[in-house]
Amino acid sequence: MGEFSGRAAIVTGAASGIGKATAERLAEQGARVVAADVDEDGLAWVRGNDAFVARAGDVTSVAFNADLVETCSRAFGRLDALVLNAGIAPTGLLQDADLASFDRVMEVNVRGVVLGLQAALPLLRSSGTGAVVITASISGLGGDPGMWAYNTSKGAVVNLVRAACLDLARDGIRVNGVCPGPIRTGLTEPVGRETPELMDEMLRSVPLQRIGEPSEVAELIAFLASPRASFITGVLVPVDGGIGANAGNFRPAGGPTSGAEGQ
Ligand SMILES: NC(=O)c1ccc[n+]([C@@H]2O[C@H](COP(=O)([O-])OP(=O)(O)OC[C@H]3O[C@@H](n4cnc5c(N)ncnc54)[C@H](O)[C@@H]3O)[C@@H](O)[C@H]2O)c1
Repeated sequence: MGEFSGRAAIVTGAASGIGKATAERLAEQGARVVAADVDEDGLAWVRGNDAFVARAGDVTSVAFNADLVETCSRAFGRLDALVLNAGIAPTGLLQDADLASFDRVMEVNVRGVVLGLQAALPLLRSSGTGAVVITASISGLGGDPGMWAYNTSKGAVVNLVRAACLDLARDGIRVNGVCPGPIRTGLTEPVGRETPELMDEMLRSVPLQRIGEPSEVAELIAFLASPRASFITGVLVPVDGGIGANAGNFRPAGGPTSGAEGQ
């Protein structure tokens, strides 16, 4: 089978986008996966496939995180890879600060990750080679106009990866993060639909001149969660088409393309 054969994973935010692609990638490599999301209908894709157990709930709830771990233990008897990926991305200027929206993004993107880590630790520890991968963002490494709350939450996640790696190293648990650039998912789809000029502008800043696909992030998450990454912990790996490499002078001649076609 694959390198995750006999192993079990939990993936949050698995109803769509990066989480769904990751759950699929891990299962392709032999893992059995608890697919978690607040969007119950969105989890319909796992139905009828023995590799998956779907759980609907909110990652900001202590009880839901406990339920995910208990479900994984009961169904698969172990936990090897914890992928904390659920997230939201509200927009709006700091000048118009909506504190309810700020509290919610911190709750989902930061508290949700902390609760997921805490709940999973005992089961993850007992596997002997537990690995955690957290979906951060390039928006946690720098700022974006009109995304201050999201930037703040992802900045916290970036440093949480580093701190968690140090605390959990003694348990043999690795903790890494991925920092996607613009990826074609439920988060970016409304931007492309409602403000195509903003999407074009965003894509022009990508050296590879296109939006990324969820599978391209899933591949990195699966690697970091796998035994192939056994000496890697505490890193944040960009998967951003080269955005982070640009000191500011990259100015593409042509317009952007909207997909991987022709690559
Ligand atoms: N798409 C991008 O360009 C991009 C870039 C950088 C980082 N990210 C990060 O990637 C992660 C996945 O997002 P995506 O792009 O696949 O978007 P997506 O909207 O397709 O998927 C996010 C999933 O998380 C779920 N979710 C949201 N709040 C939840 C909650 N409280 N409890 C449980 N599930 C919840 C949603 O229902 C959704 O299915 C997020 O953390 C996001 O911040 C995305």
